[in-house]
Amino acid sequence: MSEQWWRNAAIYQVYPRSFADGNGDGIGDLAGVRAKLPYLAELGVDAIWFNPWYPSPMADGGYDVADYRDVDPVFGTLQDAEKLIAEAGEHGIRTIVDIVPNHVSDRHPWFRAALAAAPGSPERELFHFREGRGEHGELPPNNWKSEFGGCPWTRIDDGQWYLHLFAAAQPDLNWDHPRVRREHEEILRFWFDRGAAGVRIDSAGLLAKDAALPDLVPGAHPHPYLDRDDLHDIYRSWRAIADSYEHPRVLIGEIWVPDTERFARYLRPDEMHTAFNFDFLARPWDAGQLRESIDATLAAHAPVGAPATWVLCNHDVTRTVTRYGRADTRFAFDAKAFGTPTDLALGLRRARAAALLTLALPGSLYLYQGEELGLPEVEDLPLDRLQDPMHFRSGGTDPGRDGCRVPLPWTGPEQPFGFSPDGAKEPWLPQPADWAHLTVEAQSGDPASMLTLYREGIRIRRELRGGFGWLPDAPEGVLAFRRGDVRCLVNLSASPLPLDGEVLLASGPLPDGLLPTDTAVWLR
Ligand code: NOJ
Ligand code: CA
Repeated sequence: MSEQWWRNAAIYQVYPRSFADGNGDGIGDLAGVRAKLPYLAELGVDAIWFNPWYPSPMADGGYDVADYRDVDPVFGTLQDAEKLIAEAGEHGIRTIVDIVPNHVSDRHPWFRAALAAAPGSPERELFHFREGRGEHGELPPNNWKSEFGGCPWTRIDDGQWYLHLFAAAQPDLNWDHPRVRREHEEILRFWFDRGAAGVRIDSAGLLAKDAALPDLVPGAHPHPYLDRDDLHDIYRSWRAIADSYEHPRVLIGEIWVPDTERFARYLRPDEMHTAFNFDFLARPWDAGQLRESIDATLAAHAPVGAPATWVLCNHDVTRTVTRYGRADTRFAFDAKAFGTPTDLALGLRRARAAALLTLALPGSLYLYQGEELGLPEVEDLPLDRLQDPMHFRSGGTDPGRDGCRVPLPWTGPEQPFGFSPDGAKEPWLPQPADWAHLTVEAQSGDPASMLTLYREGIRIRRELRGGFGWLPDAPEGVLAFRRGDVRCLVNLSASPLPLDGEVLLASGPLPDGLLPTDTAVWLR
């Protein structure tokens, strides 16, 4: 396998709680993943990125880490993780673990020690503790907003406040402190030494803060906590560690930075290898918009020599089939609302076309578990089952992210659709009763299923190695480009498009040899 495998890999994202339950407690686990490795090998993916599997109180789906060097008992043991990494390797699948450097859990020993220690103590210096404003310090130290809504400061008993850009259970670390840096360098080595091929870096654009923690002034540059220049030093030191291995490890950033040029700085040759392309993910189903994003992406990556990534959804955003079935097909966190009308048949059709679009683009591809099954967002979860802090911190107006985290359907006519073994506890989030047609079993061997489309698409994609170029004279509303000797056409216009050439793969029927609206085809 080539050392630069990450340049054109298909990477499958496993949300461990919802992938497969091996021991019957209704929660996905590492034994469940190990049992499904043949499925992932058949799908043809090159690597798995695991959302956090560390010990965690699960205040934010595991992004509140209490111990970075172990596995939560709900998922298994550290030995299970080692076995999983080794067994995946036997299937030719690499493992990417999720590193959460911006914040820890409030149950992390460092934070507990900081709470037990006095204001001004060395323990508190690992975090951002401050006195409040107002006559009695009763007001938060600044005007920042939490990424989950509301105030990012929580006051403790002795009157000091601590910063948490996400939930209160996720105190932010002070990245100006050398111990914080050293600790994370050791954590990287810990997982690299256990065979992890790389890390996905959570909230990578947020670690560095202006030490004065000044008020946020709209438009002011530099921003007090987003995309600050000192971040690059951190990632250079991480790259040196990744490169020190015989088989160099890979750094993948989660960076929500709208400016594509600023984004590409993280991908300079001595920093990260790749980063998620959220610009593309957020674009509506519109040929002009998608083309603009593809052009901007490729243009920004070219000077730094990094491959682009293509992502349609993940564990934080509305599932593709649902998003594309709406009047507003963009993704935006602040646009999420209960009760948005959705045409799932339309959404599925577009998601199938989008699959062929992203599979044909040059760079690496991320596939979020269930996307290959065409799962929709589950929008009618009982309110008392919701878990996501995004929902609660919005005061209940934001549906939150549970709807894209529902356990996968594998087999059989009824819940839990093979997610858990027989006689198991009910899954931690209920699956819709009508998912029988979406199981892996139901879709396997069905030439018209989403699963078959992804299997075929990933297989053929391996041969797509040639250069990328837009085809001239494409009609308005049609994305038309070539990858080497293969052409990809995606029809987002209202009129069917005449075709010529040998059809390698199509996202839907091609009546009379025409490419209908919301359909894509690969031609040779
Ligand atoms: C980004 C992760 O993808 C998301 O799930 C999490 O809530 C935040 N970072 C905070 O860690
Ligand atoms: Ca389990």
